[in-house]
Amino acid sequence: AHQWRGVIREYAERLPVTEATKVITLGEGGTPLVHAEKLSELTGSVVYLKVEGMNPTGSFKDRGMTMAMTAAVEAGAKAVVCASTGNTSASAAAYATAAGLKCAVLVPEGKISMGKLSQAIAHGATLLQVDGNFDNCLDIARKLGESYPVFLVNSVNPARIQGQKTGAFEVVDALGDAPDIHVLPVGNAGNISAYWKGYKEYSAPFESGTAGTLPAVSTKTPAMWGFQAAGAAPFVAGHPITEPDTIATAIRIGNPASWDTAVAARDESGGLIEAVTDEEILDAHRWLSSKEGVFVEPGSAAGVAGLIKKHAAGQVPTGKTIVITVTGHGLKDPQWALRTADGSDVQPVSVPNDVVSVANELGLDAK
Ligand code: F0G
Repeated sequence: AHQWRGVIREYAERLPVTEATKVITLGEGGTPLVHAEKLSELTGSVVYLKVEGMNPTGSFKDRGMTMAMTAAVEAGAKAVVCASTGNTSASAAAYATAAGLKCAVLVPEGKISMGKLSQAIAHGATLLQVDGNFDNCLDIARKLGESYPVFLVNSVNPARIQGQKTGAFEVVDALGDAPDIHVLPVGNAGNISAYWKGYKEYSAPFESGTAGTLPAVSTKTPAMWGFQAAGAAPFVAGHPITEPDTIATAIRIGNPASWDTAVAARDESGGLIEAVTDEEILDAHRWLSSKEGVFVEPGSAAGVAGLIKKHAAGQVPTGKTIVITVTGHGLKDPQWALRTADGSDVQPVSVPNDVVSVANELGLDAK
């Protein structure tokens, strides 16, 4: 019987680890690549969803956190710190628990979802709500890492990007080659940087630290298509945004840390980074749950919103292979599912405790 061993053990030859490394893992990665039938019909290309909500803490952050926490232990750290819009804090808290380390997380007050807040608390992290936005939190976390005895596990730590690049490896391993286009949401811009790194490394011979030169696995690299929320779209503006705002709190970020590597991913891949409105994000969120059967959090739907928007503009090629990373689980921020397209709340229907009333309510006639 084979059980997936987590991204470090599955891809050890392509990560900065050795046989002696003490691996901190919760079995992350190995997530489903789901054929999106309705998006494929819509676009005339073959569209897949990389469902990262299936990671142990419900988001793609776990891929990077296994590496960051392994590095923290290797460095002899006793405590880790991160800034977060929610998912990084949930992941850091869980992996710090697995590593036996203390964990402090800084989040923007009132701007993270209840699910993510609960996870950080459940795993015993010290959670501080900062009177500021994510960019302010990250600024403080970096300064803490520099001047105090705490290990920074945000994606400015290169170990995080190393772990997250395995998402690209899994896509190629599943499809047999790289897709033509890879679509994903962009916030702090670590993930677009990480996927591009992974795709590049898989398309050329790779100098492994433990296994010599590995041959190329894919014949090509995809165009990277990133989408930001319109109220938090610094790459579209061409400069940082001081007051980012969007209902997609996961990507409510105005000053992305991985700016240069994200721009390089966009330009070297022949890709793009564009914006989608909150309304387009919520429409895509509803599309995924009601047409594809995949429940994501709003920020995760930004990539799908972007693909639908580009298709409407006649800018999505047909006959291609397109992968969209949907980054976090719908249960992280479930309130949006209970809101209808016109903005009103869904009220579940109450019925008496008998079969005839229930059948009537369902519009069923007796057989
Ligand atoms: N999707 C989700 C669900 C996220 O939580 C994030 C980032 C992104 C997309 C954007 O990824 O930052 O690599 O461009 N969340 C971070 C956090 C900032 O703190 O959880 P990115």
